[in-house]
Amino acid sequence: MSSLAQENNAINLSQGFPEFNPPLALLEKVKEALEGGKNQYAPMPGILSLREILSMRIAQWRGFQANPITEITIVPGATAGLFVCIQALVHPGDEVILFDPSYDSYAPAVILAGGRPIRIALNPADFSMPWDRIEELINHKTKLILINTPHNPMGRIFSREDWDQLANLLSNSDAMVLSDEVYEHMVFDPYKHISVLEIPSLSNRSIAISSFGKTFHATGWKLGYICASETITTEIRKVYQFMAFSANTPMQWAAAEFMCEYPNYESSVKTLLQEKRDIFANAMRSSRFTLLPCDGAYFQIVEYSAISGLNDMEFAKEITTKHKVAGIPVSAFYQTSPPDQKLLRFCFAKHADTLLKSAEILCRL
Ligand SMILES: Cc1ncc(COP(=O)(O)O)c(C=O)c1O
Repeated sequence: MSSLAQENNAINLSQGFPEFNPPLALLEKVKEALEGGKNQYAPMPGILSLREILSMRIAQWRGFQANPITEITIVPGATAGLFVCIQALVHPGDEVILFDPSYDSYAPAVILAGGRPIRIALNPADFSMPWDRIEELINHKTKLILINTPHNPMGRIFSREDWDQLANLLSNSDAMVLSDEVYEHMVFDPYKHISVLEIPSLSNRSIAISSFGKTFHATGWKLGYICASETITTEIRKVYQFMAFSANTPMQWAAAEFMCEYPNYESSVKTLLQEKRDIFANAMRSSRFTLLPCDGAYFQIVEYSAISGLNDMEFAKEITTKHKVAGIPVSAFYQTSPPDQKLLRFCFAKHADTLLKSAEILCRL
């Protein structure tokens, strides 16, 4: 959709990256690191000062004590982190439970590891977890369950009750939880992000993954981290050593120093994105689209059955080419056959002008 947007000179609300820059102070830190000689390989698990500040912050945010030496690993982005974890933990014949719709890198990584993705559609009415179906499909071959909260594309977050349900279902199973939490700092009032690390009965058998790319509005930096028990981390690092060995050095130094100097930065991320969600939602009020709830991440799902009978792919193409606003058809996030829903995803991590201009066009449909 991004290339179609470009060809048609359309406003691009399709791909999930911000239109604005990382904080200036962070960019300054990168410059200092580059000029200060921080240009050679970082240690395999990441520079210690970044792991240390992360460990302090994870304790503060999640109430979870992660040992910076043995339980936190810096990786070149969350996608690489997910890939490494899946290669390390999934073996031929293992099953991995995934949900539809979901981020597209999960299933290919499972297949490359020789595992079998077991795809379960979220409840189509409200995109909640289909607990009965999950219970039916968990068995002795289930190695991993892949959770994503806040959720891309649906903007749902995992509640305490969701985690308790999952913990309950896993009480008689050895399955582990891989929790993709890249949007952890974008959870909107009145909700609060709850990490898998906060669930005592799961934290020992779980892996949490996050992305500095998302948190710092710097997706092109490809920097993320994995937090897991020492036993799990040891296995993950065996793969990581030969997959990338380490993540880029100057950005790690910059991230560590920035996090030390700006301890409240992460809460400003939520405020910024919540404001953007509201600007877009208010500007769309007079449109014929129905906006689905968005409790976290930076995507607004809209339902368009009052406007068109086209399927979502055709409709997304039509509004890109004819009306010059690009979004993503939600069916692209399904591998099971998607329900017959007319949903598009728009990314609202954009300047207010861009959001208002897009909404003005969309309100005319
Ligand atoms: C749910 C989810 N996980 C992971 C990623 C990738 O994160 P990174 O850019 O750090 O690889 C994305 C990016 O869009 C995402 O939406």
